[in-house]
Amino acid sequence: MAYSSEVYAAAKRILEERRRSAQRLAELKKADIYAEFPEIKAIDSELSKSMANLSVLVLRENRDIDSILGEMNAQNESAKRRKAELLSKKGLSPDCLEPQYTCKNCSDTGRKNGILCGCYKKVCRSEALKELDASSGSAACSFDNFDLSFYADNGASDGTNPCRKMQNYYNFCINYANSFSLASPSIIMMGKTGLGKTHLSLSIAKTVISNENAAFGVVYAPAQKLVSDLEREHFSFSGSDAQMRKYTDCDLLIIDDLGAEFPSQFTTAAIGNLINERLYEKRPTIISTNLSVKELTERYSERTASRILGEYKRLLFVGEDIRFLKNR
Ligand SMILES: Nc1ncnc2c1ncn2[C@@H]1O[C@H](COP(=O)(O)OP(=O)(O)O)[C@@H](O)[C@H]1O
Ligand SMILES: [Mg+2]
Ligand SMILES: [Zn+2]
Repeated sequence: MAYSSEVYAAAKRILEERRRSAQRLAELKKADIYAEFPEIKAIDSELSKSMANLSVLVLRENRDIDSILGEMNAQNESAKRRKAELLSKKGLSPDCLEPQYTCKNCSDTGRKNGILCGCYKKVCRSEALKELDASSGSAACSFDNFDLSFYADNGASDGTNPCRKMQNYYNFCINYANSFSLASPSIIMMGKTGLGKTHLSLSIAKTVISNENAAFGVVYAPAQKLVSDLEREHFSFSGSDAQMRKYTDCDLLIIDDLGAEFPSQFTTAAIGNLINERLYEKRPTIISTNLSVKELTERYSERTASRILGEYKRLLFVGEDIRFLKNR
């Protein structure tokens, strides 16, 4: 699992709150039931006293612990039976005095026998999706609402047909997202503005995060934000590398709109280092950009550009600005 520390912290908080609230509710309910049925309260105090009695009998009267335990168990069992009968007579369920946890498996602790519970993973996934939405406004983008009819269909059955071409990219992206692993290739989506690059990259991000059999940490950032995060960290001289780690260590990094960041020696070097390090560590990256191959080569170091162009899977988006088509 490689979610951000914020996701883990939020998931932990949510489970703690669930647990506390189940316990609070149980206390309130217990008070109501005791007030209404004092006989049940009496049995419960009998049961809790018996534990205290055990130590008294063992310590003071020096009696054999096994025989006392046997006696006591029999008494407790009978008290529990009486309690269950009473509850059922009052139309209450046998566990109505216990906290009703959301997850019966781990009682909302997030772990069972030292193993992470499915409910904890589920909360992590949903927090990771929330984080993605907050950083990208991704809620509006999914594979489901990616409409291929926005791309002209000229009848050709090869790559000269925009619709055909985009259909292939769409299929590639769905397949990529569903089978994503650290062995997946990096991708560069190139093309003019408004062709669906951000839309498809966010659709991939969502699908990868939603994979129930894995726990991939996905970070999305517009190039501009990414470099300003790195710049701020670098020039604060705080010695912290948390931002840098977030971008280098996540399982899938999406750099949106590469080239839109303000160019400087620092930003081009930072992006180059990030891209190189992720390739070296075999962590997939998806870049979307309006830059042409020529512009990419001019803007970043030759080494960076040639690695992107040589090692990333290249998708060359075609068509007309969909923002414009939608508003027509
Ligand atoms: N094939 C599509 N079907 C439906 N909406 C789309 C499609 N492609 C893009 N859009 C929408 O059009 C707008 C521009 O797309 P976007 O992905 O931001 O383009 P790009 O990143 O290539 O500039 C967004 O609101 C996006 O959701
Ligand atoms: Mg975009
Ligand atoms: Zn659980």
